[in-house]
Amino acid sequence: MSQYLPGLETIAREAGALLMSYFDRHIKIEYKGEVDLVTAADRASEKLIAERLQTCWPKYGIVGEEGTRSDTGAEYRWYIDPLDGTTNFAHGYPVFCVSIALVHGDGQLDAGVLYDPTRNELFAAERGQGATLNSKPIHVSKTACLAEAMLGTGFPSHKRHKNPNIYFYQHLTLNSHGVRRAGSAALDLANVAAGRYDGFWEFNLNPWDTAAGVLIVQEAGGKVTRFDGTPFRLDSREVLATNGVIHDEVVATFADIFAGRGLEALPSPVEYAKTRA
Ligand code: IPD
Ligand code: CA
Ligand code: CA
Repeated sequence: MSQYLPGLETIAREAGALLMSYFDRHIKIEYKGEVDLVTAADRASEKLIAERLQTCWPKYGIVGEEGTRSDTGAEYRWYIDPLDGTTNFAHGYPVFCVSIALVHGDGQLDAGVLYDPTRNELFAAERGQGATLNSKPIHVSKTACLAEAMLGTGFPSHKRHKNPNIYFYQHLTLNSHGVRRAGSAALDLANVAAGRYDGFWEFNLNPWDTAAGVLIVQEAGGKVTRFDGTPFRLDSREVLATNGVIHDEVVATFADIFAGRGLEALPSPVEYAKTRA
């Protein structure tokens, strides 16, 4: 019997219902950075989750994206993303979720839940016990090669002008079944765990974006590393998650891209315009 999941699932569903009560209404957007958005829904969800966690596990620390900090040196800490996919949410695009993870000691992921209230999908995992979607076991895909894979990625809101991901996006789009950019890194990871994506990568993520999703992918049989194949850590920022089967091929492809090998030149829109009638 799971020690954490029943309580976590209740909290995530309650936070998801709260988000839905704000969704699709006119909501004021505030800016934490150039395109880093936050809304009243993010703050209300974090407050609810932090209060519930504190009540159930008073000795555990809390790190929340919207600023909650409580006993962050504790042996057990919660990492909360109260609304992953805020830009989608603020525009009325129904792809977002609640993410809660339990981290132990030097970054060990012990439990995680992700709840997508628009689809009523609750992804959960506890270390060593497998991963579930709405209480049914889930597994990563069996896709054998990159050419037959469907992937996900995201583009960072922070320092976006300095990020090279467009090259990775172009190369992998041209060498796979396609790359989706859905706008919720946590749900992207859940989609790898459920076998809907064969892989996902992103630069510059934070621990609250990745902690729950990474454990869910691992418990669903997938592999999660940094871009060079070295082990993922909570503070890694870059994350590459796959079904495991295509992992080495994606790592080798990334090494090529970082070295500038085999990159197709981006077609020139100026030249293209000359060919239009
Ligand atoms: C963002 C989402 C998005 C990713 C960004 C994240 P937020 O989180 O996960 O998919 O591309 O890097 O910051 O701000 O919506 O919680
Ligand atoms: Ca996030
Ligand atoms: Ca967030």
